[in-house]
Amino acid sequence: MNRPRFGDTNIVVLGAGGTGLFMADCIRQAEGFAFAGFLDDDPQKQTGGYEDHAVLGGLTAWRTLPASCLFITSLYSPKKMYLWNARVEELGIPDGRWATFVDPLTRIGSGVHIGKGTFVGPGTVIEPACTIGRRCALLGSVHLAHHVVLEDYVVCANSVSISGGVSIGRGSYVGANAAVRQYVRIGPFAVVGMGAVVLDAVSGATTVVGNPARPMG
Ligand SMILES: CC(C)(COP(=O)(O)OP(=O)(O)OC[C@H]1O[C@@H](n2cnc3c(N)ncnc32)[C@H](O)[C@@H]1OP(=O)(O)O)[C@@H](O)C(=O)NCCC(=O)NCCS
Repeated sequence: MNRPRFGDTNIVVLGAGGTGLFMADCIRQAEGFAFAGFLDDDPQKQTGGYEDHAVLGGLTAWRTLPASCLFITSLYSPKKMYLWNARVEELGIPDGRWATFVDPLTRIGSGVHIGKGTFVGPGTVIEPACTIGRRCALLGSVHLAHHVVLEDYVVCANSVSISGGVSIGRGSYVGANAAVRQYVRIGPFAVVGMGAVVLDAVSGATTVVGNPARPMG
């Protein structure tokens, strides 16, 4: 398990928005971590900052920052996450410059692997033998049961509950309070609406809502 040691780690968050602010707060409050500022392409934020935090430049300014700065990516709206992720990917930030942030208020099981650039928020429980890809975001109070696999760029919003053996494809977004039945496969770039109860496989690039979850008309 590659839970980071608590040293002096400066983290810059890509994307100055609401979720970025939450991530910044978690980073600031974790012992041994420092929040160094945001990068965002909005020129207004670059000059005025965001909620009293510095915006150090546009996304491409990552190259100008000292090598001691590591990065975490925040979120965009669920249906447009794929555009944001493509933008982040094309920045070409090498793996070694991504932080893996695991909030101290988490419970991480044995044999869990967490990829570079992934954010794990407070109250989250990850049971044994889960594999979480690169640049994922698990916000507050997410529960992953045993043997869950999240591919790269998967988002689980607040209070999502994923049962054992579920696998979720690259770039999928699971909305707040959604629940997924054991051993279900969710394809890449899917969106699961908030509060959905997913009982059966979800095809890639499909949005499902409701209980039981069905594709949106
Ligand atoms: C599923 C989702 C992406 C759909 O967004 P959208 O395409 O903008 O959907 P709309 O608001 O236009 O709604 C379209 C229809 O779906 C319904 N709907 C939308 N989201 C729904 C949900 N989660 N559950 C049930 N029905 C939903 C709407 O009531 C509407 O129904 P109608 O056509 O009968 O009026 C969005 O509603 C959602 O759940 N996002 C996740 C939000 C979240 O978890 N945020 C956490 C941030 S930390």
